[in-house]
Amino acid sequence: MKILVTGGTGYIGSHVVVELLKNGHEVTIIDNLINSKTTALKNIGKITGQMPIFHHANLINYGTIEKIFKDTRFNLVIHFAGLKSVSESVEKPIMYYQHNLTGTINLLRAMQVGHVNKIIFSSSATVYGDSKNAKRTEDMPTGQNIANPYGRTKYMIEEILKDVCAADPKFSAVALRYFNPIGNHPSGLLGEEPNGIPNNLMPYVMKVASGELKELNIYGNDYDTPDGTCRRDFIHVTDLAGGHLAAFRAVKTPGFKAYNLGTGTPTSVLEIVNTFEKISGKKLPHKFAPRRPGDLAEIWADPSKAKKDLLWQTHLTVEDAIRDTLTYLENHQ
Ligand code: UD1
Repeated sequence: MKILVTGGTGYIGSHVVVELLKNGHEVTIIDNLINSKTTALKNIGKITGQMPIFHHANLINYGTIEKIFKDTRFNLVIHFAGLKSVSESVEKPIMYYQHNLTGTINLLRAMQVGHVNKIIFSSSATVYGDSKNAKRTEDMPTGQNIANPYGRTKYMIEEILKDVCAADPKFSAVALRYFNPIGNHPSGLLGEEPNGIPNNLMPYVMKVASGELKELNIYGNDYDTPDGTCRRDFIHVTDLAGGHLAAFRAVKTPGFKAYNLGTGTPTSVLEIVNTFEKISGKKLPHKFAPRRPGDLAEIWADPSKAKKDLLWQTHLTVEDAIRDTLTYLENHQ
């Protein structure tokens, strides 16, 4: 298939592009390189022996995007491009709504012009907001008590996609609700390198392990969880990437569908630290700090709908992800 991947040089996008190329698809990437580098393209080439077509473009410039769709007839769009820092979204909500919402609307307009009616969207477990039941199923309500503008853009995009599907009986949209992606390609060539001080756990752990940051703050050890720290569903990014290819089954039929991509098993923040120390054989300096506002005590996926409909399940463990993270760190020192 001819597939357009927006945000294809980013952390998750680049891992998905590798799997697409390995499976014989023709890939075109649009990326504005705000949060990624062209070295990802070179490394995709090294891993797969193939180079995707690349456009350095921003989805908020409609004319550029329309031209790409006029020049090539794509079969499918996989949409990752978007801003993703929770804290930045709280400080700069307008920028987040502009990039994530206007960007998506421009993409959908250009898809109409290019007669493309299939999209797989990179959504997030954040759309569920808070709930009494930590294990989330796709039929739970979305949109309530979402803690930040970033999360709300994910929810709003899902709603836009539902409306587009309702208006066009041939249109199909699959929202993949990611839990907590960690790890990287086992070659250590692709990975997550956020600008500045990271918000997310594993990028922060990596900076402490490399000596760039002094110590990890574990936000809260007084939660009502087995060891008092938060629990999350950490999924290896290679398993997550496989979920996008599995989603081809669902995107064949029109309408809006949502799937959780997670392992179904929670791991605590302290367990991540302990496992990191065990596998690396080194101490990871850390201390307990106050709770981070907006954090949920625990959230994990019920992945049974993806297993049933997409025939997809995870194979890799948190240990695998940490091992691959250490390979990435060795390659980048
Ligand atoms: C966050 C976002 C979510 C987004 C996801 C992926 C919130 C409320 N949710 O999820 O919308 O889709 O990132 O980008 O922000 N932790 C520490 N010390 C740190 C960093 C994190 O203890 O330095 C803890 C957090 O308190 C949390 C866990 O690690 O309990 C995971 O945090 P993080 O990686 O930021 O992911 P989420 O908060 O689950």
